[in-house]
Amino acid sequence: MHATHPLVQTFREAATPAPHGPTLSVGLVSADLMALGADVARLEDAGARLAHFDVMDGNYVPMLTVGPPFIKAVKTAMMKDVHLMVREPLASLADYVAAGADIITIHPDACVHPHRVLQVLGATKHRDRADRTVARGVALNPGTSVDVLDPFLDAIEMVMLVAINPGWGGQTFIQATLGRIEAVRQKIASSGREILIAVDGGVTRRNVGQLAGRGVDIVVTGSAVFDGDLKANIDEMTRALRV
Ligand code: DX5
Ligand code: ZN
Repeated sequence: MHATHPLVQTFREAATPAPHGPTLSVGLVSADLMALGADVARLEDAGARLAHFDVMDGNYVPMLTVGPPFIKAVKTAMMKDVHLMVREPLASLADYVAAGADIITIHPDACVHPHRVLQVLGATKHRDRADRTVARGVALNPGTSVDVLDPFLDAIEMVMLVAINPGWGGQTFIQATLGRIEAVRQKIASSGREILIAVDGGVTRRNVGQLAGRGVDIVVTGSAVFDGDLKANIDEMTRALRV
C-alpha cells in the first residue's frame, strides 16, 4: 500500500472542501525577467504558494527557456513546480533536484523509458527535506490519450493536463481539456491512489472560473498573472476558482 505523499495531502486539502479551491502555480518564465526578484517578492506577498518553471529544451518543443541554474537562483518561499518539456530528462534529474525542485513533471512521450524516470524520482529526496521525496508529475498534451496514464498510476503524485500545445505561453485554452479532467478524475478514483490534478496553459482571468468545482488541485497560469496588477490578478483568479 502506498502512503499518500505529503504534498498531495497539502494541495488536496487546499482544494477541498469549499470554500477553498485549487492552488495557483505561477509561471515564472512569463515574469519580467529584468525584475525577477521584485516579481517573486510580489508573488509571495500576494500569497502565491507555487512557482512553475517551464523548462523547454529546443528539441521536444521548439523554444529554449531556462534550466537548473535559473531554478536554483530563484530564492523563494514558494514551492518549485518544475515542468520538463525535455527529451530524455533522466540524466539531468539530479540537477533539478539540486536546484530545489518540489515537484518534477515529465512528458512520457519525451522518454524512451518514462516509468523508469518516475521510479528514479520516486526514490529521490527533496534537496532540503529528508522527510519527503520529490513529487512526480506526468504531463499529457492535448493530442495524447488519457489512457497513456494507466501504467503510471502507481508511480505518480500528479497528472498535469496541458490545455495548449506546449511550447509557448499566451495561447488559447483548448476547451476539450474540461472533458479530459473528468476522465482523469475517474481514472484516479478507480486507482485508489491519491493523485493531484493540475491544468496548465491558456488559463486567464476570464476563463479560470470554468475550472472551479471540477476536482482540479493546481492551476498553472503564466502570462495572465503578469498582465496588469499582479496582486489583483492573483486575488481575482483565486476567488474565481472557489466553488
Ligand atoms: C507551455 C507551458 C505553460 C504556459 C503557461 O508550454 O507549459 O506553463 O507557458 O503560460 P500561459 O498561462 O501564458 O498559457
Ligand atoms: Zn508549464
